[in-house]
This record gives sequence, structure tokens and C-alpha cells, in this order.
Amino acid sequence: MVLTTTIPDCDEQLNSTFASRYVRTPVPKYKMPANPIPKEAAYQIINDELMLDGTPRLNLASFVTTWMEPECEKLMMASMNKNYVDMDEYPVTTELQNRCVNMIARLFNAPVGETDTAVGVGTVGSSEAIMLAGLAFKRKWQSKRKLEGKPYDKPNIVTGANVQVCWEKFARYFEVELKEVKLSEGYYVMDPVKAVEMVDENTICVAAILGSTLNGEFENVKLLNELLTEKNKETGWDTPIHVDAASGGFVAPFIYPNLEWDFRLPLVKSINASGHKYGLVYPGVGWVVWRTKEDLPDDLVFHINYLGSDQPTFTLNFSKGSSQIIAQYYQFVRLGFEGYKNVMENCLENARALKEGIEKTGLFNIVSKDEGVPLVAFSLKDSSKYDVFEISGSLRRFGWIVPAYTMPPDAQHIAVLRVVIREDFSRALAERLISDIVKVMKEMETHPIRVSTKTAHVTATVDETQDGEDGGKKNIKKSARETPEEIATYWRQLAARKKTGVC
Ligand SMILES: Cc1ncc(COP(=O)(O)O)c(C=O)c1O
Repeated sequence: MVLTTTIPDCDEQLNSTFASRYVRTPVPKYKMPANPIPKEAAYQIINDELMLDGTPRLNLASFVTTWMEPECEKLMMASMNKNYVDMDEYPVTTELQNRCVNMIARLFNAPVGETDTAVGVGTVGSSEAIMLAGLAFKRKWQSKRKLEGKPYDKPNIVTGANVQVCWEKFARYFEVELKEVKLSEGYYVMDPVKAVEMVDENTICVAAILGSTLNGEFENVKLLNELLTEKNKETGWDTPIHVDAASGGFVAPFIYPNLEWDFRLPLVKSINASGHKYGLVYPGVGWVVWRTKEDLPDDLVFHINYLGSDQPTFTLNFSKGSSQIIAQYYQFVRLGFEGYKNVMENCLENARALKEGIEKTGLFNIVSKDEGVPLVAFSLKDSSKYDVFEISGSLRRFGWIVPAYTMPPDAQHIAVLRVVIREDFSRALAERLISDIVKVMKEMETHPIRVSTKTAHVTATVDETQDGEDGGKKNIKKSARETPEEIATYWRQLAARKKTGVC
């Protein structure tokens, strides 16, 4: 969510071409209108303005689902008015969430007996799931330290510097220090050896990522489990592991069933996954599951009874929609294990085709791995003439949204482009993207669009003349690129670049 700070002019009006058939007076943009307008006009005005948003299916920046079957959309529309928290009123919806939790826990090999119930909860996304998992670790660690009569005011979590921003949020909001293992050129995930070295008595958990946001790579959770088991034995601590499987949680079980990253590893106590990523549901739904009941401290669970019967809840929000939970259940029932496997295999094949096409240009290094979530991350072999941000900007002309970003410390000098392959990204689209990348690269090679920071600065601060080497004045011949408009664009892009986040 963007926090609104200031608005340019609170009296600004919104005019709409077609809506003028219904209303002649413009609608204020930042003040609530004094009077109602016809529903057709409201629809038209908003619909017209929304046309300027990007096309979700061409948004290759996001892991989040952009296509679902109409039958599922029908179910979602029919449940838009159900508040998920009213469990007594909507017991079937609650039951569907419980079924989803049980299916996911078993998919992740939780030690749940045939007749046992798994422990977990549906959330708005992986961010909320991670907050809940983090709180459970913090509370467990604090309780243990209190019992031992030891200080419990400096909890920390060990992660790679490649963690998604939600971990930084958790750390700041809930006062836990984030100890990040630095990356290096060519190694863009957490090194388990370095991570375990950073663990101390205040470490509430080590968070490993199954599918790094930056290059899709799976971290080596098995090795982490081995090293941490040894360290726990030596020190007498029992530092656990959380796996952030936001994107990989619904990929690995289907494609790499023998990869041990989940509850098969004894130190893995909780796992989160985004239902709205490769869980194949529209935003926002996520899941967090715990290994056993004992891994979720009782005192974090609230019991409410005013909506009917006793209802245990462990979420950050109270009310939320039911549609996504129902949609998740639809996908599980509709696709089953084989259906998910087909979708994921198809995504991986398309990722491979795209990777080969990009490699063929001879201009890029691939920084994603063959084993990982289906995406292609690539950096320029030579960025002396133009950079990935300019390529990203040029691809927008063809409708593609391909993010460019720099890696976290200590690999911040590496800048990459990333294309996420979702279910609705077909082979035809992959081929089209390759041909557009080739076009853009040809343009870049022949007409690099770079406006150097130096040029922009000089042009912005001097007039038409400047001191010549001989002390006299010489005219500066400005190209079209050096006009004030170009300079403004350059700085706007630079500012936007700094703000670019990837999700
Ligand atoms: C590894 C990882 N963790 C957490 C998140 C946050 O997930 P969500 O958008 O479901 O809150 C993301 C988002 O991309 C992610 O890639």
C-alpha cells in the first residue's frame, strides 16, 4: 500500500469523456462529492481511468496469479459478501479453509497422522503468514529464556540479505534484529555455513527461502538443517528453521518431490506459502503451517465467542473476504496433484525456452537457476553503453513490464532484469518477448539512449554558454536529449528506479 502524504490540489476535478452523457459537472478528485451520480456514470468514470493501468497478464514483474477459470471466478463472486471471520455463520467456508490447511501441511510432509488435524491458518498473503510465524518463534524463545532466568530483550533472526521486504517489516514492527548473511557476485542466496556461524543464543530462528524473490533460486535447507543440528548439539540451544516458501511452496512438491526442504527436516518448525502465487489464486491469500501444535504458543491464539461458538483465531486482521479461501479450495479439488504438476512443468518449459532465447542474444548472463521457481533473471554482460533499467524502460513500449533492480549487499553492483513465468504466460508470449528483447537490444546497440548523470547535471545548471578551456565562452550544442524535458524524465526515472520494489 502506498501511504498518501500530500495531494497536488484538493480542488482538482476529474473529467470523463463518456460519462458526460450522464453528468455534466466534473467529480472532485480528492474531496468526497457533495451529491450522488448515476451508477452508469460512476462505472464509466472509474473504468475509463483504470484503462491507464498496465495489463496484468503482461506484468512479468509479479508472481501473483492473473488468470483463473471462469467457474472459479463465479464461486468467488458469489462469496464476495461473506466475511471470513464469521465462522459460526459460514461454517462451510471455515471447513474449506481447514481442508486447505490439512492438504498443504500434508503436501509439505508435516508429521500429521491419518486422523490428526494439521495446525495452520489462511492469511492475506505470505507477509502476514511470516509475521505470525515470526511471532510464534519470538514468543517461544522468550518463554524459554524467562524460564531459564536469562535476558530476553534482544531477539534476532538470521536470514540472507536476499530476503523479501516483509522480513524487514517483521523485524522492525516486532523489534527483532535481522542479521543478514551478505551475498556475493555469482552467489545470490544465503550461504548456510555463514548463516549458522551468525546464530547465537538470541536467535529465534533461521529463515531460509525456497525460491529467492531475486533470482528464484532455492536455498539449501537440507544443509542448513544439518549444520544447525550440529551447532545445537554443541551449544545446547535449539534454534529452529522457518522456510519462506512464498513462491516455491507450490512448485517444489510437484516438480522436485525428492528435494528435502520441508517438514522432513526436523528443525523446520513452520512454513509459509502464497496461495496467490503458484497456489494459483487471485490476490490475496497465503498460508502458514506449523509442524505440530507445540510449535504455536497457546497464548498467541485468541478465543472469541460473540459471533456464536468459541472460535480460536491467530491472524493480524479480524475481518476479511472468503473468496480467496474458496478459490484455493477450488484449485486443489480441480487440479489435484497431477494438475498442479502439469501447470508447473509447463511454466518451467516456458522459462527454459525464454532463457535459451535470451542466452542466444549473446548479451546477457543468466543469474537464475534451472532448479528453482519458473523465472528468468539475467544481467548485461556489458553495461558500459546502456543498462538494464533502460532496457526495462524500452520494453514498456511493447507493453511488457519487466522489472530491473540491483542485488542486495554485497552484490549491489549487479543489476538484473527478471521475468516471472506464470501459468498464463504461454510459449507464444515467450517467443514474442524474446523478439521484442532482440528489437530493443538492436536499438540500444545503434542508438544508446543514455543521458549521463554528468550531462544531465551540467545541462540543468548552466545556460547556453559555458567556460571554454581557453577561458573564453563557448556555445554548448544541445542535442534533443539534453532538453529540460529529457532531464526531467531522466531524474524521474532515476527516482522511480530507487523506489522499485519487487514482489
Ligand atoms: C520469498 C518471498 N517471501 C515473501 C513474500 C511476500 O509475499 P506476499 O506478497 O504473499 O505477502 C514474497 C513476495 O514476492 C517473496 O517472494
